[in-house]
Amino acid sequence: MKLRRWTAVAAVALATVTALNTLPATAGRPYDPTAQSLGTLGLRHGLHVGTAVDMAALNDPADPRYRELAASEFASVTAENVMKWESLEPTRGSYDWAAADELVAFAKRNRQSVRGHVLVWHNQLPGWLTSGVEDGSISTQELRELLRNHITTVVSRYRGKIWQWDVVNEAVSDPWDTPSTLHYKGFWAEHLGPGYIADAFRWARAADPRALLFYNDYNIEAFGSGDPADDKTQFVYDMAKRLRAEGVPIDGVGSQGHLGTQYGNYDTLQVAAALKRFAALGLATAFTEVDVRSRLTDGVQAGDSEEINPRLQASAANFSVLMKACLAVRSCLSYTVWGFTDRHSWVPGWFDDPPEGLATLYDEDYQPKRAFYEIKSDLIFAGPPYVLPRAIHKPRRAG
Ligand code: G3I
Repeated sequence: MKLRRWTAVAAVALATVTALNTLPATAGRPYDPTAQSLGTLGLRHGLHVGTAVDMAALNDPADPRYRELAASEFASVTAENVMKWESLEPTRGSYDWAAADELVAFAKRNRQSVRGHVLVWHNQLPGWLTSGVEDGSISTQELRELLRNHITTVVSRYRGKIWQWDVVNEAVSDPWDTPSTLHYKGFWAEHLGPGYIADAFRWARAADPRALLFYNDYNIEAFGSGDPADDKTQFVYDMAKRLRAEGVPIDGVGSQGHLGTQYGNYDTLQVAAALKRFAALGLATAFTEVDVRSRLTDGVQAGDSEEINPRLQASAANFSVLMKACLAVRSCLSYTVWGFTDRHSWVPGWFDDPPEGLATLYDEDYQPKRAFYEIKSDLIFAGPPYVLPRAIHKPRRAG
């Protein structure tokens, strides 16, 4: 009886290993994982590897490589700017859907999922909204109604077409803000109080019953002191836990992943531990805006390889830490980079004193950098069929 059971277990194990070792091959050519896109390699694990898309670059006829790579290398896309409120409703009451629709159609043509970014944020709001609140012509009650209408209108338009929505973005302060004790910050908290967060999730859910609804923020890749007064990850964790307990329809927490090689950053175990804690709340997770910038020192700008190489390697290591942690935790559903080429990255425009850059997977000439190959190898070597149980080596007898 026992023997029969063990024979059955062994047969199943053998069949599993054999199946995992069977590699897809095309017409006589051996399957070469290094020739696959990041998107394809990610989907082997059910993980969507995506990018933010700059619509101006996508439509620049002088820059065709951008469109080619956006279409071929990634399994998911996010609008870098064109789904933000100022882009969608530049004039009160009149929506301009052209660019956002175009991205959704692009994704459909290329069989890509779409992360919707962003419904509620304190930046890139239309001028009519912020000035109306400032001069008192928009009351608090009206502002709440405007927000509800905005969420309902946008989510309804793309109902069934958006996989994950960033419903609320960057609602929590940083330790360098005043006061330094972490708190709900920005336009919406100031005018509506923190209750807008739960409202936003409920309104989004009412407009699309199937989209995954995310809270999205930066500097929450790992836990720190565990004190919500100065540990942003803990603050966001406590918030998410409370929202879940109140029955608010939040499905996930997005960790942006904007890192810099000049900082200490994290190791894979720390990041995986954070993802696991969010998973234990019943939440999905995602890396939503990954890039790893570096200081553009005089040496870097002069092309000194002794200054450039360590930065490219540190950048690759940080991209890889987030990828490995994501692969290690099943509820981490997607890994999105915030732009894929240094030719089109928000970093140099944002951090110019001192100048920073080199933050993405491809250089300005669309040559893949070490970071690209590093996350590609993470995707290839994550488990079978390329990583198998260790081979058994018995000590040899003398011949
Ligand atoms: O659209 C105008 C254009 O008409 C004008 O000619 C040009 C001149 O500067 O500016 C254009 O607007 C810029 C816009 O990007 C579109 O390119 C803004 O100046 C610029 O500030 C804006 O920056 C965006 C930034 O969000 C604004 O907050 C970045 O591209 C975008 O990458 C960045 O994305 C955010 C995420 O949404 C949330 N997390 C952080 C992340 C990085 O800051």
